[in-house]
Amino acid sequence: MRKLILDCDPGHDDAFAIMLAAQNLDLLGVTTVGGNGYLPNVTRNALVVLEKIGRTDIPVYPGHAGPSTKPLIIAANVHGESGMDGPVVTPPKRQPETKHAVDFIVETVMSTDHVTLCATGPLTNIASALNKEPRIAERVDALYIMGGGAYAGNWTPAAEFNIYVDPEAAYKVFHSGMPIYMVGVNLTRQCPVTPTFIENMRKLGNIAGVFGAELCDFFANGGDAHLHDACAVAWIIQPNLIKDAFLHVDIELDGTLTRGMTVTDLRFLQTSNPEADIDLTSTKKWNDSKEGSPFRGKEPNTHVAMRLDYPGFCELLLKTLRNYN
Ligand code: RIB
Ligand code: CA
Repeated sequence: MRKLILDCDPGHDDAFAIMLAAQNLDLLGVTTVGGNGYLPNVTRNALVVLEKIGRTDIPVYPGHAGPSTKPLIIAANVHGESGMDGPVVTPPKRQPETKHAVDFIVETVMSTDHVTLCATGPLTNIASALNKEPRIAERVDALYIMGGGAYAGNWTPAAEFNIYVDPEAAYKVFHSGMPIYMVGVNLTRQCPVTPTFIENMRKLGNIAGVFGAELCDFFANGGDAHLHDACAVAWIIQPNLIKDAFLHVDIELDGTLTRGMTVTDLRFLQTSNPEADIDLTSTKKWNDSKEGSPFRGKEPNTHVAMRLDYPGFCELLLKTLRNYN
């Protein structure tokens, strides 16, 4: 099983990311970051989810409360004041670890081979870990993120929430040289929480299935019913669930209308799936035009998720929830 550190801001869809990772990967630890909710809340929520599925052996390390450059904005309009409104839950029996998330990430990556990172919240902790120890960029197998979008946002027309909360952190990450797999909202819009989906979970009748259904009962009414974060972890578990395109992505920091945009160069779309979402196909490559030409792109740096096998995703999630006794 792949070794994983999951950095998240639970968050209803983060909860599904945790449940998928805990059963299907070697989840070394969960680190939390301010995003959907304030840090104490998202940390408590991570502990609650792990307790629900009987995995209190997996440690939780609190990280940064928010970005260093701007005050934190939270998504209470989507996830509620607690960060995971809906299910009635009891306070977790255990405390989070006292070690800081960034120290856990750095120490683990520097001492353990073949660690994969997955970030499903703002990239504040990941950027901070890179500042502390730049060599993690070459040590990790990959960084999977739920964030950004190949051609649109969700929090603004241009920017997706996780990137929008801390664009400077995202810039640091996308310029670090880490192998990046980006699951943007162009992909996650293919992963809706439908009434059928919810009832199939509820019908499992076990704690995990009912919990998943209760999470979605609330989340689906919040107006953003897509299991964004779960798609990123599902890609790690089952790579054939997602078709990607290897493209150049950079982060807009200054645009009045576009701050936090993941500017994705689609001009030389080289996708493993010719039926990818957009019909931009080109036989041109990023370096076909000579140096200095406006038509010359920059070298691709990101595996951009383009097409989801939604039935396959649902099968994986239901199988995982069913397997929790
Ligand atoms: O834009 C969707 C992302 O923002 C998801 O990670 C969700 O949990 C929120 O953090
Ligand atoms: Ca999240």
